[in-house]
Amino acid sequence: MKVLVVGSGGRCHAIIDAIKRSKPTTKVFVAPGNDGMRDSAEIVPINETEIDKLLKFAKENKIDLTVVGPEASLEKGIVNLFEREGLKIFGPTKEAARIETSKSFAKELMEKYQIPTAGFKTFAEYDEATAYAEALAKADSFPIVIKYDGLAAGKGVVIAETLSRAKETLREMLVEDKFGDSAVVIEDYLEGPEFSFMCFVDRENVYPMVLAQDHKRVFDGDLGPNTGGMGAYSGVPLVTLEDEAEALERIMRPVAKALVLEGVPFKGVLYGGLIKTKDGIKVIEFNARFGDPEAEVVLPRLESDLLAVFFSVIEGSKVRLQWSKDYTVGIVLASKGYPQDYKKGYPIRCLEHVEGHVYHMGTKFDGQDYVTNGGRVLIVVQKADTLFEAQQKALKDCEKIDCANLFYRRDIGSKSLIK
Ligand code: AMP
Ligand code: GLY
Repeated sequence: MKVLVVGSGGRCHAIIDAIKRSKPTTKVFVAPGNDGMRDSAEIVPINETEIDKLLKFAKENKIDLTVVGPEASLEKGIVNLFEREGLKIFGPTKEAARIETSKSFAKELMEKYQIPTAGFKTFAEYDEATAYAEALAKADSFPIVIKYDGLAAGKGVVIAETLSRAKETLREMLVEDKFGDSAVVIEDYLEGPEFSFMCFVDRENVYPMVLAQDHKRVFDGDLGPNTGGMGAYSGVPLVTLEDEAEALERIMRPVAKALVLEGVPFKGVLYGGLIKTKDGIKVIEFNARFGDPEAEVVLPRLESDLLAVFFSVIEGSKVRLQWSKDYTVGIVLASKGYPQDYKKGYPIRCLEHVEGHVYHMGTKFDGQDYVTNGGRVLIVVQKADTLFEAQQKALKDCEKIDCANLFYRRDIGSKSLIK
């Protein structure tokens, strides 16, 4: 069996690890990957958005299955292209992936099918958007949330506390076209703990994974700017079984059904970024792929054969999922300065002393050592019978890693522990 995994970060490393765990003899290729994956996969120097080159590679190397990590490849239409050429690929089509790539598409779908989410309006014109923001300010409805309509590498969401911040954001997005020339969505601010609910979806069939919680802010106590994610844990005690059932029945199943009814059936991983408000569970956003760093803490708990799951979704047969009962905590080690400017090239030593899993997010091998090569560099994942124990083991592992330019949060998992 030959598998091609598309993507480069910790999520891809975790997918590769889960594939190798269930079928060790699988030959895995990763494009573009990073050097940290070279023990378990062959690195292919093709970028995730070069879909014609990826197709050529898959054909020439007789790849049996391609698995797509990032949304950028989905938006380019990698699944449409591979399917048209008769190749097996795991992920949604470009049209179904709009649930992630267009905020207005997602919001309008939720409105039409009464899936609980924050109230919203879409604007293409700066004047109309600012008039709306002014009206909300007069009605004392701040903070408000302003979202760029297209993909913006995690930077397209601004929570505006004041009218002047709102206007500045609207100017950047609608006048200066900072991310491109799409519209914006202005939505109500929701309050409560957030969690990530990923499901394998084959049209209207929804197979839930165990829950996870991401940590988007850079510093302990959720301080500092947003990042791509500084860590996650799985097994989320602050979300009850009733909450989970509500999320499945009122959100994840209905949205899968809605996509079928709209003529854009979804196949792949549907990710609900959900929030537990005092009025019930609501949707913050959907993604059309595994979350990163959620995949790194969820997949290690999967006891079923991940390759069999991918094939079942593609072929439309029943998916069987078995999960371990333990908790996982994943702590991201990032370059000092991230998410702003940071330097690369610092050697990382003593990785061999880490007892948990180490997934490489942004590293390079310089012939002697792994060196830092990105904002987020590594994620260390530990498992235990309790969340506290998993957190402590992961922290201990982080302390063993010797690198002059890395930092990490010490409170991944604490929100559920305090609870
Ligand atoms: P996103 O880039 O869509 O994942 O959004 C980034 C973060 O912004 C989310 O994880 C939330 O913490 C926050 N956010 C987005 N929409 C809302 C909302 N309507 N109310 C409160 N916070 C939000
Ligand atoms: N962890 C959030 C995301 O993958 O978008």
